[in-house]
Amino acid sequence: MKLAVACDHAGFELKEKVKRQLESEGHGVEDFGCYNTESCDYPDYARKLCEAVLGNMCERGVLICGSGLGMSYTANRYKGIRAALCLNTYMAEMSRAHNNSNVLVLGSRIIDFPAAKDILRVWMETPFEGGRHLRRIRKIDGEE
Ligand code: RB5
Repeated sequence: MKLAVACDHAGFELKEKVKRQLESEGHGVEDFGCYNTESCDYPDYARKLCEAVLGNMCERGVLICGSGLGMSYTANRYKGIRAALCLNTYMAEMSRAHNNSNVLVLGSRIIDFPAAKDILRVWMETPFEGGRHLRRIRKIDGEE
Protein backbone atom coordinates (compact mmCIF):
# COMPACT_ATOMS: atom_id res chain seq x y z
CA MET A 1 0.00 0.00 0.00
CA LYS A 2 1.17 3.57 -0.65
CA LEU A 3 1.15 5.46 2.63
CA ALA A 4 1.87 9.02 3.71
CA VAL A 5 3.58 9.83 7.00
CA ALA A 6 4.02 13.22 8.68
CA CYS A 7 4.79 14.56 12.12
CA ASP A 8 5.87 17.59 14.11
CA HIS A 9 9.09 17.87 16.13
CA ALA A 10 7.59 15.86 19.02
CA GLY A 11 6.66 13.03 16.69
CA PHE A 12 9.82 12.99 14.61
CA GLU A 13 11.59 10.06 16.27
CA LEU A 14 8.53 7.84 16.32
CA LYS A 15 7.72 8.81 12.73
CA GLU A 16 11.18 7.63 11.61
CA LYS A 17 10.59 4.25 13.30
CA VAL A 18 7.10 3.90 11.89
CA LYS A 19 8.39 4.76 8.42
CA ARG A 20 11.14 2.13 8.64
CA GLN A 21 8.63 -0.43 9.89
CA LEU A 22 6.27 0.20 6.99
CA GLU A 23 9.08 0.11 4.45
CA SER A 24 10.39 -3.16 5.90
CA GLU A 25 6.93 -4.64 5.28
CA GLY A 26 7.13 -3.61 1.62
CA HIS A 27 4.85 -0.55 1.70
CA GLY A 28 5.61 2.58 -0.28
CA VAL A 29 6.03 5.52 2.09
CA GLU A 30 5.85 9.21 1.20
CA ASP A 31 7.36 11.30 4.00
CA PHE A 32 5.87 14.81 4.26
CA GLY A 33 8.11 15.86 7.16
CA CYS A 34 9.08 17.26 9.45
CA TYR A 35 12.64 16.01 9.10
CA ASN A 36 14.23 16.85 12.47
CA THR A 37 13.38 17.77 16.07
CA GLU A 38 13.39 21.56 15.57
CA SER A 39 10.19 23.12 16.81
CA CYS A 40 7.54 23.40 14.10
CA ASP A 41 3.75 23.69 13.71
CA TYR A 42 1.77 20.44 13.36
CA PRO A 43 -1.01 21.94 11.15
CA ASP A 44 1.51 22.53 8.35
CA TYR A 45 2.36 18.84 8.21
CA ALA A 46 -1.18 17.58 8.74
CA ARG A 47 -2.25 19.68 5.74
CA LYS A 48 0.40 18.20 3.44
CA LEU A 49 -0.57 14.65 4.39
CA CYS A 50 -4.33 15.25 4.13
CA GLU A 51 -3.94 16.78 0.69
CA ALA A 52 -1.93 13.74 -0.44
CA VAL A 53 -4.63 11.35 0.82
CA LEU A 54 -7.52 13.38 -0.58
CA GLY A 55 -5.69 13.76 -3.90
CA ASN A 56 -5.17 9.97 -4.04
CA MET A 57 -1.39 10.28 -4.11
CA CYS A 58 -1.46 8.04 -1.03
CA GLU A 59 -4.13 5.59 0.02
CA ARG A 60 -3.87 6.27 3.75
CA GLY A 61 -1.67 8.22 6.16
CA VAL A 62 -0.08 8.22 9.60
CA LEU A 63 0.25 11.49 11.57
CA ILE A 64 2.30 11.80 14.75
CA CYS A 65 2.62 14.62 17.28
CA GLY A 66 3.24 14.62 21.03
CA SER A 67 -0.29 13.94 22.28
CA GLY A 68 -1.87 13.10 18.92
CA LEU A 69 -4.52 15.73 19.67
CA GLY A 70 -3.33 18.61 17.51
CA MET A 71 -2.82 16.36 14.51
CA SER A 72 -6.25 14.79 14.89
CA TYR A 73 -8.04 18.13 15.37
CA THR A 74 -6.39 19.45 12.24
CA ALA A 75 -6.78 16.39 10.02
CA ASN A 76 -10.48 16.02 10.81
CA ARG A 77 -11.13 19.55 9.50
CA TYR A 78 -10.50 18.19 5.98
CA LYS A 79 -13.66 16.81 4.42
CA GLY A 80 -13.12 13.17 3.52
CA ILE A 81 -10.41 12.62 6.11
CA ARG A 82 -11.36 10.34 8.97
CA ALA A 83 -8.43 10.61 11.34
CA ALA A 84 -8.36 8.23 14.29
CA LEU A 85 -6.26 8.96 17.35
CA CYS A 86 -5.56 5.44 18.61
CA LEU A 87 -4.13 4.59 22.01
CA ASN A 88 -4.55 0.83 21.72
CA THR A 89 -5.29 -1.95 19.24
CA TYR A 90 -9.02 -1.98 20.01
CA MET A 91 -9.33 1.63 18.88
CA ALA A 92 -7.26 0.85 15.79
CA GLU A 93 -9.49 -2.10 14.91
CA MET A 94 -12.74 -0.20 15.44
CA SER A 95 -11.49 2.87 13.59
CA ARG A 96 -11.04 0.70 10.50
CA ALA A 97 -13.90 -1.82 10.84
CA HIS A 98 -16.60 0.69 11.80
CA ASN A 99 -15.28 4.13 10.81
CA ASN A 100 -13.11 3.39 7.75
CA SER A 101 -10.37 5.64 9.10
CA ASN A 102 -7.99 6.76 6.41
CA VAL A 103 -5.53 8.47 8.75
CA LEU A 104 -4.03 6.94 11.90
CA VAL A 105 -2.89 9.44 14.53
CA LEU A 106 -0.34 8.51 17.19
CA GLY A 107 0.86 10.41 20.26
CA SER A 108 4.59 9.94 20.70
CA ARG A 109 4.48 11.12 24.31
CA ILE A 110 1.75 8.62 25.14
CA ILE A 111 2.78 5.39 23.46
CA ASP A 112 6.18 3.82 22.79
CA PHE A 113 7.31 2.17 19.58
CA PRO A 114 6.28 -1.40 20.50
CA ALA A 115 2.74 -0.18 21.23
CA ALA A 116 2.73 1.94 18.07
CA LYS A 117 3.85 -1.08 16.06
CA ASP A 118 0.95 -3.19 17.37
CA ILE A 119 -1.55 -0.40 16.71
CA LEU A 120 -0.15 0.10 13.21
CA ARG A 121 -0.33 -3.63 12.41
CA VAL A 122 -3.98 -3.88 13.43
CA TRP A 123 -4.85 -0.64 11.63
CA MET A 124 -3.18 -1.85 8.44
CA GLU A 125 -4.78 -5.30 8.53
CA THR A 126 -8.37 -4.50 9.51
CA PRO A 127 -10.82 -4.02 6.63
CA PHE A 128 -13.83 -1.70 6.69
CA GLU A 129 -17.03 -3.67 7.31
CA GLY A 130 -19.26 -1.42 5.21
CA GLY A 131 -23.03 -1.98 5.49
CA ARG A 132 -24.62 0.12 8.23
CA HIS A 133 -21.24 1.66 8.96
CA LEU A 134 -21.04 3.06 5.42
CA ARG A 135 -24.37 4.83 5.94
CA ARG A 136 -23.03 6.32 9.16
CA ILE A 137 -19.76 7.60 7.77
CA ARG A 138 -21.61 9.11 4.82
CA LYS A 139 -23.63 11.09 7.35
CA ILE A 140 -20.42 12.57 8.75
CA ASP A 141 -19.92 14.33 5.44
CA GLY A 142 -23.62 15.18 5.10
CA GLU A 143 -24.04 12.77 2.21
CA GLU A 144 -27.10 10.95 3.57
C1 RB5 B 1 4.34 19.99 20.87
O1 RB5 B 1 4.92 20.38 22.08
C2 RB5 B 1 2.94 19.48 21.11
O2 RB5 B 1 2.11 20.50 21.50
C3 RB5 B 1 2.41 18.81 19.85
O3 RB5 B 1 3.26 17.81 19.46
C4 RB5 B 1 1.04 18.16 19.98
O4 RB5 B 1 1.01 17.31 21.08
C5 RB5 B 1 -0.09 19.07 19.93
O5 RB5 B 1 -1.25 18.66 20.01
